Amino acid sequence: MRILLLTHAFNSLTQRLGAELQGRGHEVSIEFDIADSVAEEAVALFKPHLIVAPYLRRAIPESIWARHVCLVVHPGIVGDRGPSALDWAIQGGASEWGVTVLQAEAEMDAGPIWASATFPLRAAKKSSIYRNEVMQAATTAVLQAVERFAADDFLPTPLAECREVRGGLRPLMQQADRAIDWASDDTATVLRKINAADGFPGVADTLFGVACHVFDAWPEAVLRGAADSRPGDLLVRRETAVLRKTLDGAVWIGHAKRAGDFKLPAALAFAAESAALPDAPLEGWWRSDSATWQDIAYEETGGVGFLHFEFYNGAMSTAQCGRLRAALAWARQRPVRVLVLMGGADFWSNGIHLNVIEAASLGDGSPADESWNNINAMNDLARELIETEAQITVAALAGNAGAGGCFLARAADLVWAREGVMLNPHYKNMGNLYGSEYWTYLLPRRVGEEGARDIMRNRQPLTAQGAVAIGFGDACLAGDPQAFRIDVARRAAEIAAAPDLAQQLATKRERRAQDEAQKPLASYREEELSHMRRNFYGFDPSYHVARHHFVRKSLASWTPRHLARHRDLGWKVPM
Ligand code: COA
Repeated sequence: MRILLLTHAFNSLTQRLGAELQGRGHEVSIEFDIADSVAEEAVALFKPHLIVAPYLRRAIPESIWARHVCLVVHPGIVGDRGPSALDWAIQGGASEWGVTVLQAEAEMDAGPIWASATFPLRAAKKSSIYRNEVMQAATTAVLQAVERFAADDFLPTPLAECREVRGGLRPLMQQADRAIDWASDDTATVLRKINAADGFPGVADTLFGVACHVFDAWPEAVLRGAADSRPGDLLVRRETAVLRKTLDGAVWIGHAKRAGDFKLPAALAFAAESAALPDAPLEGWWRSDSATWQDIAYEETGGVGFLHFEFYNGAMSTAQCGRLRAALAWARQRPVRVLVLMGGADFWSNGIHLNVIEAASLGDGSPADESWNNINAMNDLARELIETEAQITVAALAGNAGAGGCFLARAADLVWAREGVMLNPHYKNMGNLYGSEYWTYLLPRRVGEEGARDIMRNRQPLTAQGAVAIGFGDACLAGDPQAFRIDVARRAAEIAAAPDLAQQLATKRERRAQDEAQKPLASYREEELSHMRRNFYGFDPSYHVARHHFVRKSLASWTPRHLARHRDLGWKVPM
């Protein structure tokens, strides 16, 4: 079938559905929901058999739904309606939630139901639930709905006739519903409220007496700071986060957005103010025994070292790259033979930190200089990994990776990805960025020169299976996060116990030495950085413009041509 994905953005759910549908032989094209007339034009050009809307912020026009079946993905259980589905579920502490695929009609979210799926609702950030449970349930339900549509003998069930209707119509959640009362809210309540608003819109609050939206909350088990502090007081800072007292404990606030600005690490959004708080660093890299905010954490079992880096949104600033490199250098000295880089639960890495770079434009700094520093810090980290000689290194991707983050992963000997993870191993979407992280060394040796050129040019997302199929990844493991962790630990322990491990390490060292003799890493880096220098400091400002819009979330005004295949020159509906 020809299936048009009508969507607000090419987010990870849209990417996953597009890849899954293509993998089942459907012809997929994408149009951003920018204006009714643009969507109508896309339908006229592509003549889809079916329209799927994975992520919409407004209703589909009648001119389209009256003539075509449009399947809308709603992140709520059967009967649930309204724009804040997940927000209400998380804030209300629901134990189970779901995704419903319904047919677009005049009334929003009230059309007949084609498929649905449910899941236990974790206590976690909305963005995390969306990228894990919702993504999985939506994929299952959409694929089932598409099969039912193709079979041509299925009648969707009108909402009024559904037997198990547990949800209802709920309004847009307002900031008044989200407000934290620091004097009376306990830690669990504060966490639920901030989780329900993460990553958008955040909870309207104040920090240091200044109005802002807060995000990215973490519990703290040990009360730190002044003995005479009161609920609501800011107690200490650590790296990029600040600790705030609640009624019965304290929570770390990782990110904040000041009015008119964009989201930043809290200690950067309030740089001067947080510098005045007492510092509460963690000593060393070992994973803390009790709940706290720890962005880099190391643990060891069965002769294997596991390095976790839980960087919000997978973005890695100059300082974070430097600290992770120090942690990796330390881990390399441990008596382990396998090192697994676990990344974070939702993202492995999305490369340089575009928001922190953009923040340089708010003061007297230079975003070009900060970009330069950040890419060099990423490269130093990638080199540390490539040059790890005494261990087999593994990048274990429980979450998505994009741009430089994908090549940082490829700098490890092995890349294992959880089923359901999406990879975007290309740079050009960010204002034609050339990219670095030694990709010109790492990519062709896996997929060949031609394959590398195609990946960079086509700018298509890869599923975990797709990445393995083309040789970018080495294994696609269990889709369930818990099963993935167990699988990773088992496989890593097997490598550590392998009788031929010494031989494997010797072969690895020889290969690196040969590669270095043929062309030193420094040459790859220099060549890549000569392009990056032009991207950052040259005449063409595309990268700075693209970053500005990305960080400030400017609305798209057209669908990129590499996604809207129906707009290709010479594209015709196949006979
Ligand atoms: N720096 C700062 N923030 C980043 C980021 C980066 N490199 N990559 C992603 N983010 C943020 C997004 O702004 C978004 O923020 P939010 O919390 O306000 O929602 C969040 O991470 C999730 O991103 P989103 O685009 O919604 O996730 P996705 O899983 O749908 O898409 C990508 C993943 C990788 C395709 C997309 O995020 C992307 O293109 N990122 C930029 C990658 C890049 O160009 N890096 C620089 C070159 S190395």
